[in-house]
Amino acid sequence: MSKTIQKNLNYKKYFVNSNLCYFKLNSSKSEKSFADEIHFSLNQKSKFISPKFFYDHKGSELFEQICNLPEYYPTRIEIGILKKLKNELANYLNDSFRLVELGSGSSIKTRIILDMLSQIQDHVEYFPIDISEILTTSSKLLQEDFSKLHTTGIIDTYESGLEFLKNYDNGNNLIIFLGSSFGNFSPDEGKEFLKKVNLTMKNNDLFLIGLDLVKNKIILENAYNDSQGITARFNLNVLSRINDELSADFNLDNFSHYSLYNESEQRIEMYLKSLLNQSIIIPKANLSLTLEKNELIHTEYSYKYTLSQIRELMFQTGFSIENIWLDENKQFALTLISKNI
Ligand code: TRP
Repeated sequence: MSKTIQKNLNYKKYFVNSNLCYFKLNSSKSEKSFADEIHFSLNQKSKFISPKFFYDHKGSELFEQICNLPEYYPTRIEIGILKKLKNELANYLNDSFRLVELGSGSSIKTRIILDMLSQIQDHVEYFPIDISEILTTSSKLLQEDFSKLHTTGIIDTYESGLEFLKNYDNGNNLIIFLGSSFGNFSPDEGKEFLKKVNLTMKNNDLFLIGLDLVKNKIILENAYNDSQGITARFNLNVLSRINDELSADFNLDNFSHYSLYNESEQRIEMYLKSLLNQSIIIPKANLSLTLEKNELIHTEYSYKYTLSQIRELMFQTGFSIENIWLDENKQFALTLISKNI
């Protein structure tokens, strides 16, 4: 314990109740503010907005709606695979494993794994890692339904949160990274990320990661451009956020959601398209910008993988594959990996 405290000095522990506490960095590292990042990213020749800014309150609500859309297959299919694999996954675990989730969920996916752990353990430990304090809210919801659950949240980036856990104690971790968030990294960033995760893992730790697979272009394009226009509202919402938080004057009617599947790069590309020549003022980012008709602001990539690329990726980043679970149409993969020792 004293070791814990010394190595993790920068964190402060907060107690919510006897089953829920969280650690938060004392002083935020010299992270750039929203205003600084927007100033930088919209001041480029090729403009972009980081996808991490999608998830304000409204954006998170819209993303929930995306997950329930008929066209957005990843959530539905991943839930189906999780339900099928949970008994098999239990065979890899024992009493000493606790769940570490990258991103915090009170969602059905987290619940499937917690259900399985509750069946094999008397005491279930859950360590969600999330950059946002939302984890305290989502954890409270889980607490209501899982009486054996003990939650220790870590409010930090995934990499730093894992580093924190490495120095925390000797428990075994089942790390999960679900959804298609991994696909939002470029292949090089993804490799770097996996290497960093690998370094924080103990020899017996396991990592379950969701990856969306290459498939028919029409299925992919519909998933990111639904008929009800929810995806469009989600993408455009980032401009409302800049209006609200940085006093900008984006007129959302002057932009459209634009997405396409780039087959050679194996990625969905998401943009906001300017529908006319226009200028925008963003006072709190100290920026005025002009956009030409049809100019694109890039917001996100979502990379898709083939099974052989997944095997290659894990091999290159120091992992052994324990298992790959797929749905019957091979649309989505959940891969269980361990440190290659
Ligand atoms: N991580 C999700 C994905 O790649 C995010 C997402 C879904 C998204 N639909 C979107 C991001 C539309 C921007 C616009 O599947």
